[in-house]
Parts: sequence; C-alpha cells; structure tokens
Amino acid sequence: MYIFKAAVVGAGAMGAEIAEVISASELPVVLKDLDDAMVAKGLKRIEGIYAERVKRGKMTPQEMRNKMDLVIPATTFDDFGDVDFVVEAVPERIEIKKAVFAELDQVCPGQTILASNTSALSISEMASATKRPDKIVGFHFFNPASVMKLVEVIPGSQTSEETAATAMEFAQSLRKIPVRVKECPGFLVNRILMAGMAELLRVQEESGASPEEIDAVLRQAAGLPVGPFLLADMLGLDVVYHVAKTLEAAYGDRFHVPESLARLVEANHLGVKTGQGFYTHTA
Ligand SMILES: NC(=O)c1ccc[n+]([C@@H]2O[C@H](COP(=O)([O-])OP(=O)(O)OC[C@H]3O[C@@H](n4cnc5c(N)ncnc54)[C@H](O)[C@@H]3O)[C@@H](O)[C@H]2O)c1
Repeated sequence: MYIFKAAVVGAGAMGAEIAEVISASELPVVLKDLDDAMVAKGLKRIEGIYAERVKRGKMTPQEMRNKMDLVIPATTFDDFGDVDFVVEAVPERIEIKKAVFAELDQVCPGQTILASNTSALSISEMASATKRPDKIVGFHFFNPASVMKLVEVIPGSQTSEETAATAMEFAQSLRKIPVRVKECPGFLVNRILMAGMAELLRVQEESGASPEEIDAVLRQAAGLPVGPFLLADMLGLDVVYHVAKTLEAAYGDRFHVPESLARLVEANHLGVKTGQGFYTHTA
C-alpha cells in the first residue's frame, strides 16, 4: 500500500519530531493537537530542526520553507478524510490512547493504517477500541526521532500481514531502520533500557554517587554519547516512570524501580521539559 498523506496526533516532544521526519521525506503530514498553542509549539520545534540544518548548510532556506509547507497544522479531524497512515503520539496512558483510536476509527477512511508510538502499552488493547484491529500497529520511534534511526514495528494479535509489511516499508521510506518485534510489554529496546535504568538507580542510592558521576563513568567505560541519567532527563521522567511501572506490572520485581524516580515525578521534576530532573537544565 502506498502512503500519499500521513497524520500525527499529538504535537509534543515525539509527535512534532515524527511530523518533521515525514515532511523531510516529501510527504504531506497533518499535525494535530488539542489546541492552537500546542500545535504552534510543535511547529516551532519542527522549524528549529530545519533551521539548524540550514545553518549547517544541509539545506537552503527555500527547501526549508517547502518542507514546512508540507506540515498541515490541525486542531480538528477535518484534514483526516484522505490520510493513509496515522501515527498517534499522545501521552502514555491507555485510556487516552483508546479514546484517540476510537475517534480516529470514526474519521479516517476504512483502509487507513492507525499506528501508535507507544513505548510500552498493548497494541492489541488499543486495537480493541476500533472496528479495524487488522489495521492497527505499533510504530515506535526513539528520542529524538529526527535523529534516531531505529523504529520498532509491533504487530498486535489481530494485525494483518499487509499492515505490518506496509509499516516496515513506510519506515524505510522515511529513511529509518525498522525492526519487527513481537508484542510484549516494553517490546525490545525499552525492556533492555529499563532493566539497566532500574539497576543504575539502585546503584545510585546504595553507593551515594551522583547521577553526574555515574554518567561520566559510563560515558568513559562504555563509550556512550550520553549518560543514562541525562538520557532519562531528555526522555522525560514521567515517560520513563510510566514505562517502568508497566514493565514492573508485567514482569514483577526484577523490573522494580526505586522510589527515587517516583519522588522526582511527584515533585514535577520531569527533566529537560520542566528544567529539573536528575540534572538542573537552563534554557
Ligand atoms: N518522550 C520520549 O522520549 C518518547 C520516546 C518514544 C516514545 N514515546 C511515546 O510517545 C508518546 C508521546 O510522548 P511525548 O513525550 O511526545 O509526550 P508529550 O507529553 O510531549 O506530548 C503529548 C502531546 O499529546 C497531546 N494530546 C493529549 N491528548 C490529545 C488528544 N486527545 N488529541 C491530540 N493531542 C493530544 C498533548 O497536548 C501533547 O502535546 C507516548 O506514548 C510516549 O510513551 C516517548
């Protein structure tokens, strides 16, 4: 199936970057959020990514304008009547995702594939909110989506082969590297990442070392470009916490996350987006 027009629901950290990726490969993409201010924030983020490329001589200002013109801002579903592929990137709460999928099922053509950028929630459960479970698929980008190459493609229990194959091809057409993963809590990458993160939080509590010190050690020892605590701040500690809780519920104590993470989230210290997390971030 060819994709001629796409849409992204949720213009936050991930949604805006995903819309940038789609527009960069010359496809029109509707970017929808709840209100004009949220959509404007998403557009600003996309503009920033393109402006940086212009600054580095990777594209001309005219090319940037052409790409920006492909992004169709929206607060309603009016522009969804001819979309072929939708990526949902709303907050990581199953009740919000299911409501969005039920709405999309009503407003999109019957053949449209509805994909979720969820980090860890059940694709099959989201599909149950629609009358097209064969056309629902996980399509999980990594942060920042404009840079990171990997996309996990996760078929749910009723996803058709055609839908899974289209999602794989679509990811490749966006110049990403798709990896097909069986549905299980955390899929592939987050399961590995969260097992490591939980252990690092325990190490931090027990050793008294600071996040900065542990990050520095791991950058040196493992050659990581970014330390895990700074990465968690960049991902958003609320997102990390939700993924952690989902994995703990699914796999038990081996994914137990120490209370220090819950305390930061309760205090609204969510990392880069609030200015305070494991680190203090200035704008
Ligand atoms: N942040 C990450 O590093 C990361 C990485 C991979 C995947 N994800 C996943 O991507 C999804 C989005 O995460 P995020 O970090 O971009 O969240 P975010 O909070 O930055 O953005 C979510 C956006 O969705 C909007 N929204 C809420 N309800 C909506 C609705 N009914 N219709 C339209 N828009 C709505 C919000 O206004 C907000 O702009 C989550 O499922 C998350 O698990 C996040």
